Amino acid sequence: MKKIAVFASGSGSNAENIYHYFAGSHQVKVDVFFTNNPSAIVLERAERLGVDSFIFNRDVFYHSLLIGEELRNRGIDLIVLAGFMWLVPESLLNLYHERIVNIHPALLPKFGGKGMYGDFVHKAVSKAGENKTGITIHFVNGNYDEGDIIFQKAVEIIPGENPQSIADKVHALEYEWYPQIIESLLK
Ligand code: GAR
Repeated sequence: MKKIAVFASGSGSNAENIYHYFAGSHQVKVDVFFTNNPSAIVLERAERLGVDSFIFNRDVFYHSLLIGEELRNRGIDLIVLAGFMWLVPESLLNLYHERIVNIHPALLPKFGGKGMYGDFVHKAVSKAGENKTGITIHFVNGNYDEGDIIFQKAVEIIPGENPQSIADKVHALEYEWYPQIIESLLK
């Protein structure tokens, strides 16, 4: 059985979607949700779904080896970032080399980098008058949104489409593709 840890800082709708995709699988298990935010909705989801959760602060994440130890003790094979807003420290990048993935709600390298997350991305895409947007799934390195790209999928934007509608389309792509790409990485 391969085990996944999902890291999320907010709503965690992708975390829940990934959980449901693998529920009942004999090959893959979503073992735990990690969060840096004690009031994140992802914690409510964890409780409702019966998934373990682990809350940590900045000091633990950047100045201790506790997270890596917890991941190792649980036998985690792949770290999945889904709306997780902090840069991953070097110690964890080394421990899980090429086994940490992220999803970004745009077609990188466009609309990436510090401060480009969630609705800020969709507002920027809408404002720029882009005719398409999409999702990027990539390996994580020490910079925001810069690791090697694993998968991208585009969706058309109708002229004048508002950020909420763009966000809905992108979320639909995320729900469809992120679990499948995770599954293929674990094979
Ligand atoms: C997702 O759209 C994800 O792509 C984005 O945050 C959202 C989290 O939603 N991530 C980034 O912007 C990372 N730069 P969720 O908490 O409902 O899964």
